[in-house]
Amino acid sequence: MSEPHLYPVPSEWAKRAYVDDTAYQERYAASMRDPEAFWGEEGKRIDWFTPYTRVKNTSFAPGAVSIKWFEDGVTNIAHNCIDRHLATRGDQVAIIWEGDDPSESRHITYRELHDEVCRFANVLRNRDVGKGDRVTIYMPMIPEAAFAMLACARLGAVHSVVFGGFSPDSLAGRIVDCGSKVVITCDEGLRGGRKVPLKANVDAAIVKAGEDKVDHVIVVRRTGGNVAMKPGRDVWYHQAAEMVTSECPAVAVGAEDPLFILYTSGSTGSPKGVLHTTGGYLVYASMTHHYVFDYHDGDIYWCTADIGWVTGHSYIVYGPLANGATTLMFEGVPNYPSNSRFWEVIDKHKVTIFYTAPTAIRALMQGGDAPVSKTSRASLRLLGSVGEPINPEAWEWYYRVVGENRCPIVDTWWQTETGGILITPLPGATALKPGSATRPFFGVRPEIVDAEGTVLEGACEGNLVIADSWPGQMRTVYGDHERFMQTYFATYPNKYFTGDGCRRDADGYYWITGRVDDVINVSGHRMGTAEVESALVAHPKVSEAAVVGYPHDIKGQGIYAYVTLMAGEVETEDLRKELIVWVRTEIGPIASPDLIQFAPGLPKTRSGKIMRRILRKIAEDEFGNLGDTSTLADPAVVDDLVSNRQNKK
Ligand code: WT7
Repeated sequence: MSEPHLYPVPSEWAKRAYVDDTAYQERYAASMRDPEAFWGEEGKRIDWFTPYTRVKNTSFAPGAVSIKWFEDGVTNIAHNCIDRHLATRGDQVAIIWEGDDPSESRHITYRELHDEVCRFANVLRNRDVGKGDRVTIYMPMIPEAAFAMLACARLGAVHSVVFGGFSPDSLAGRIVDCGSKVVITCDEGLRGGRKVPLKANVDAAIVKAGEDKVDHVIVVRRTGGNVAMKPGRDVWYHQAAEMVTSECPAVAVGAEDPLFILYTSGSTGSPKGVLHTTGGYLVYASMTHHYVFDYHDGDIYWCTADIGWVTGHSYIVYGPLANGATTLMFEGVPNYPSNSRFWEVIDKHKVTIFYTAPTAIRALMQGGDAPVSKTSRASLRLLGSVGEPINPEAWEWYYRVVGENRCPIVDTWWQTETGGILITPLPGATALKPGSATRPFFGVRPEIVDAEGTVLEGACEGNLVIADSWPGQMRTVYGDHERFMQTYFATYPNKYFTGDGCRRDADGYYWITGRVDDVINVSGHRMGTAEVESALVAHPKVSEAAVVGYPHDIKGQGIYAYVTLMAGEVETEDLRKELIVWVRTEIGPIASPDLIQFAPGLPKTRSGKIMRRILRKIAEDEFGNLGDTSTLADPAVVDDLVSNRQNKK
């Protein structure tokens, strides 16, 4: 591999940023030397009703994993994101909302945010929502989604946001798993000019979950579309909000009380409820937002994620608002009404910091430079990337065309489980290499291990683990601590296993090489192969299915499904289409297989285990490199699979 081009820190950045390279080295070393002292000091960046005396109490010990930060501190997240700013920045804009339709936008000040969140909290309180109760939020990207999250936090209730692109079935599973009695939704969402039937999906989900599972559905009006309202259960938010005041005290919450659950896919089983708690999460989200984006007063910060994903939680809502920032929330999509939309929004609102995903960059890159060049983007000074490895070509285009060679790119590696960014450049400190997430954030101790768990030194490649806890780390899988320990701490004892492969170069820079487990990263969204397989085999004509990822120009990875039909069923194009629609309906559009190959037989060992390694190689077009096939029960199966490989779209 040739040495990549190095982009040094621009001199004006080294001067203006909070952290230059010397400061980074010193503070990182200090955080490694004495985590207790380091985080004891950093924890003070948020307000505590009762200060903590104990900072770190964490163990990754086999069978006894326990993670507690600031455990005797008492605080409230909504207080930190809203109330504490009122004296100094009550009239400052907290949220800029940009609608799907370019003629629609809203500006919400911190004082207005306070009133809206209190009102929403009172509506919830009137429906018996209190500390520890779970609330499911199934909303589009409108300010009320953030109000709802913060209203839960204000009451000490635990929100579970479900991405609006998930199907009624997926929503039902998540409602039941966490036992939420209240669901907050909208009449319809609006994306790229198209309506999304959110309330109808909630109705279908509740039928699936069982009518007794949900007591209240709170419906925010967005499009004014016609929806069914079930008397006694469903209520219009705007009507309920008229009956309550805009005063609602922020409930005192323990640092280790839960803040939210977010479901995420793993290699096996159904999605896991990743549980994050209060104090450590907020300290970490706030601190990383502050340093990674070098957020200063006056910046206009835009993260294009959806609040249905962790990026939306940490870097649209909690991190920015804890820092008193102005955060932009976008309802639409990058190519509506045209491919210039992102850049037009940047010009309209004078965005200074822009954080998006490689899949969006690659898609826009295909449209050429013109849709970008026709806009100004003069306000921009920092760019960010998240969700999957960014290929150097996309990085260079983002840097050169979007940022006009003046904006550093922070390529931030992290996960739903980590709560916040763990490996990232700091714009005033880190020379950039396209495609590398560069160096660990303060307090983060990455290690690369081989298959046996031996820690590798210097330049090397292997699996990425984190050797000690950080405050933003997930605490457990909701309702299943055993599964938490099994998933993350059993592979390499005493270490958190990320599921990612990684290379470290001679400069100590980290290069994430992608998942090493049965998880596919489609457009920056995680999909478990097992989930797609179980959706496929639920179809009456399917007998067996095996799903793997393959390289996809825009999505990063596409979903490749090998399907064996029931005896007597005929392989037709119509059935292929039907199966794709079937998976969309079962899980949601993000799980749609890109390619389906009908396979009369799958490669199995004599004990009946599917050899995914071979299926992956075929999907990746690496026929010449199938490895040892001698342990297969029927080696002839492979020839058939190779000759019928589906072509990429
Ligand atoms: C997986 C986590 C973090 C919020 C969005 C995704 C991949 C994420 C990067 C990056 C290379 C990345 C990893 C990780 N990933 N960011 N900058 N470079 N890979 O959260 O759905 O929990 O997925 O996304 O494979 O394990 P998630």
